[in-house]
Amino acid sequence: MSDSFNLKSAEAASADLDMGDALERDAQAGRIDFDAAPTDQEIEAQKERPDNGQTPIFFLDDVSVTFKTRTGSLIHPNRVKAVQHLSLKLFPGETVGIVGESGCGKSTTANVICGLQVPTSGSVYFEGEDVTRRTASQRFKIGAKLSVVFQDPATALNARMSIHDQLMDPMIVHKYGSEQEREERVHELIGMVGLPESVLAALPGQLSGGQRQRVAIARALSLKPTAIVADEPTSALDVSVRAQILNLLMDLKKELNLSMIFISHDIQTVRYISDRIVVMNKGRVVERGEAKQVFEHPQNAYTKTLLGAAPSLLHPDMGK
Ligand SMILES: Nc1ncnc2c1ncn2[C@@H]1O[C@H](COP(=O)(O)OP(=O)(O)OP(=O)(O)O)[C@@H](O)[C@H]1O
Ligand SMILES: [Mg+2]
Repeated sequence: MSDSFNLKSAEAASADLDMGDALERDAQAGRIDFDAAPTDQEIEAQKERPDNGQTPIFFLDDVSVTFKTRTGSLIHPNRVKAVQHLSLKLFPGETVGIVGESGCGKSTTANVICGLQVPTSGSVYFEGEDVTRRTASQRFKIGAKLSVVFQDPATALNARMSIHDQLMDPMIVHKYGSEQEREERVHELIGMVGLPESVLAALPGQLSGGQRQRVAIARALSLKPTAIVADEPTSALDVSVRAQILNLLMDLKKELNLSMIFISHDIQTVRYISDRIVVMNKGRVVERGEAKQVFEHPQNAYTKTLLGAAPSLLHPDMGK
């Protein structure tokens, strides 16, 4: 794996490739049967790796989430199986990439991990403790150890609070250190994400999208979390700054020995940052494994199409 994600490949990967088209084309050509019974390989892909004596930071154990939709009648409401029988573990120091097309259940998975969504069935464990239905004190404790970076930094930040105060806020809530230590941490954080000190006095609206996402990352790191869940952290950004944010996350992960869940619909982005990959389709895991293994020897037809969809931008004949 290359150490740094270069700008050229980032641009190629993140130009709005039409993955949906490629998938539909393959489905029509009979290469993918979306409604087929799961294959042995897919059943195998549902299983998480053994613990090997380590306690996972979190463990989603056979989690399913079903939403009732507004369409359908009162007696027969329509249901969306957003996530089905998902098992997922995150071990200390590793990055797990979750990839799949829009609507496959990636954000629902992130929300279950962060406690924003209670699973319809299955259990959630944090450092070995059952937190499926989180109490306020469990929520507070997990909040200090697990941070989230969302797709759109504009919504993650408070428009009327200075950058300085936004970085200070989680530390005040969690009573981190003394006042002086908090102040020092704010300056340390802004340096860590490569922003000048002058940014501290600004409001989010005065910064560029890339700078705002750097602030959101700094805020996510303020309490020295053990893990970060990044849900499409580069998708809302201008193409030219996506690679910079991705490189920043990769550097931080290495320096701070962070564990990370990295979510993207773009398999090329996930590839550069992940140790392990989970490929989801329609709420189910269809393939998982070491990143290198999944990219070099994909077993599943859906994974192969995802991989084929990106180069097809540069070489229109590939993947046909
Ligand atoms: N609160 C909700 N109520 C009803 N349906 C929902 C709700 N949240 C998600 N869904 C549905 O669940 C499915 C999975 O959604 P989810 O947001 O997890 O997908 P995603 O993989 O994150 O997609 P994207 O790449 O577009 O962000 C979709 O069909 C979505 O419409
Ligand atoms: Mg999403």
